[in-house]
Amino acid sequence: MNSSEASDVYPQTEVYDNPQELAWAAALRFAGMAEQCVSERGKFTVALSGGSTPRAMLALLAQKPFADSLPWNSIYFFWGDERCVPPDHADSNYRMAREALLAKVAVPQENIFRVHAEDQNHEQAADTYSATIRQFFNSETPQFDLIFLGMGADGHTASLFPGTAALQITDRIAAANFVEKLTAWRITLTAQTINHARQVIFLVAGEEKAAVLKEVLEGKRQPETYPSQLIHPVSQSLLWMLDEAAASLLSDSENE
Ligand code: 6PG
Repeated sequence: MNSSEASDVYPQTEVYDNPQELAWAAALRFAGMAEQCVSERGKFTVALSGGSTPRAMLALLAQKPFADSLPWNSIYFFWGDERCVPPDHADSNYRMAREALLAKVAVPQENIFRVHAEDQNHEQAADTYSATIRQFFNSETPQFDLIFLGMGADGHTASLFPGTAALQITDRIAAANFVEKLTAWRITLTAQTINHARQVIFLVAGEEKAAVLKEVLEGKRQPETYPSQLIHPVSQSLLWMLDEAAASLLSDSENE
């Protein structure tokens, strides 16, 4: 299946020839949603994911035609998760987004809500981020316009890793989560917060994701093992944007 045959079942999937085409398509979708949301409601609220896949999309948004045409002063940036490191650390999702995009376009600093995950009291860092989001949206159940997610080869998304405590949290906007396999703390939006978004888009590329993607999308439901299966937006607007390599094992893949 290629992008021209985007599925109309739930969840929707679009498959692109390679990571570059995927990044371009994701940048176009970001731009389209930003212009629509700003036109309809005066602002566009987006939570970015970390990792390597979204970097190419962010870098495209820092270039023409996006850089000098999008309503940057009405776009508000959050993160789906953050590593518990300083904002200038090589592992920081904020640093990645700042270097790829935010430092290159006219986004006002006050529109950028990074997670202060470097705070040593991880629970406090999560509570502070939750309070920031609650205040911005003036709601206990904040509704982002768009949340980008990635998926790890273990089926995790955001920092919702298999077998971790945050998978069970339903009473918080964001949570601190200790990830045994990384021996590291993370701050993450909870699945409940993600599922309140108007639109959720997974960006997944690479052959190393193919087997787990087949399990997540076509296997039995076991979200403790594959936390990406927790993501089912109330809006029903869930889109998986994939490259051919990641989609290669899916049932209606051309590679069958
Ligand atoms: C993070 C991410 C994480 C990421 C996946 C996929 O902080 O690492 O939010 O959930 O999206 O691990 O990462 P890649 O795109 O690098 O494969």
